[in-house]
Amino acid sequence: MKYKVSIIGAGMTGATTAHWLADREIADIVLVDVVKGMPQGKALDLQEAMPVINNDVKIIGSNDYEPTKNSDIVVITAGLTRKPGMSRDDLLAANAEIVRKATEETIRCSPDAIYVVLTNPLDVMAFLTMKVANLPPHRIVGQAGILDSARMRAFVAMELDVSVENIHCYVLGGHGDEMVPLTHFSNVGGIPLDEILPAELLGAIVERTRKGGGEIVDLLKTGSAFYAPSVAVVQMVEAILKDKHLIVPASAYLNGEYGLKDIFFGVMVQLGQKGIEKIVEYKLASHEVEAIRKSAASVADNTSRLRL
Ligand code: APR
Repeated sequence: MKYKVSIIGAGMTGATTAHWLADREIADIVLVDVVKGMPQGKALDLQEAMPVINNDVKIIGSNDYEPTKNSDIVVITAGLTRKPGMSRDDLLAANAEIVRKATEETIRCSPDAIYVVLTNPLDVMAFLTMKVANLPPHRIVGQAGILDSARMRAFVAMELDVSVENIHCYVLGGHGDEMVPLTHFSNVGGIPLDEILPAELLGAIVERTRKGGGEIVDLLKTGSAFYAPSVAVVQMVEAILKDKHLIVPASAYLNGEYGLKDIFFGVMVQLGQKGIEKIVEYKLASHEVEAIRKSAASVADNTSRLRL
């Protein structure tokens, strides 16, 4: 294949990302994990699935980084997951060490790669990746907004008898419980959500979206969501490799947008071959600006806890 995507962390999210990606036949895949034999086993199993779906994709599993050499995209999804009752931020210190190591190793092997970061707390880990790799901000993007928006779309679809294709939702802000689902920009076939749904129901959808990750953690008991997060990564990978100029919500480094600086934060970005081509800014209502500021304060606080 023309492209190579390396996925660091071959757990639930990493392996499922490989699965969705192999199904799309857009890149060869390398899965890296610290557990001996596990990435090799998952890669071989997936490789053996390719003849059934007639896809010519090479999938390699490894405990070291050599096979990741010259990757076009590095996906970082190595780390610990939330246990019930734990916030994404509780994971900060442990996952920072894992992400630091993954970044140091991958940038050495693939100095031209674009990074898609998934490990939580997402906005902080994306910031750490940028610092450790010493890359310009457009080369790092955090996956969160597509997932949060997809959850909101799913909840809206559960209420209305309308195709998910017609439901467009936009969730900005940090990937935490203070994220900001936009109820007026979000729409069904062009009609704003706040004109379609009664306020109480819309409020419940907003709240469920904010707590969407926690809802899955509580149900699973061990581990966190992986199907929706991983397919969201694949949409980003595809947009980059195909140079689609696709506008999606994602975590990006801000330099003055919405009055915010020096944090990774969920905004609308345009993705293409160079990574983030631009940040698309909305004209938000004052209550939305206030919610954005509150969410940003929490991300900035966590980012300041990083030891760089
Ligand atoms: N290098 C490579 N892989 C590592 C390292 C490391 N230093 N440390 C841990 N891992 C691997 C683990 O061995 C495990 O296989 O990361 C994998 C994580 O997989 P899961 O425990 O299944 O977790 P997953 O659901 O995939 O989530 C991983 O993504 O969405 C986020 O919040 C989630 O931060 C979490 C991450």
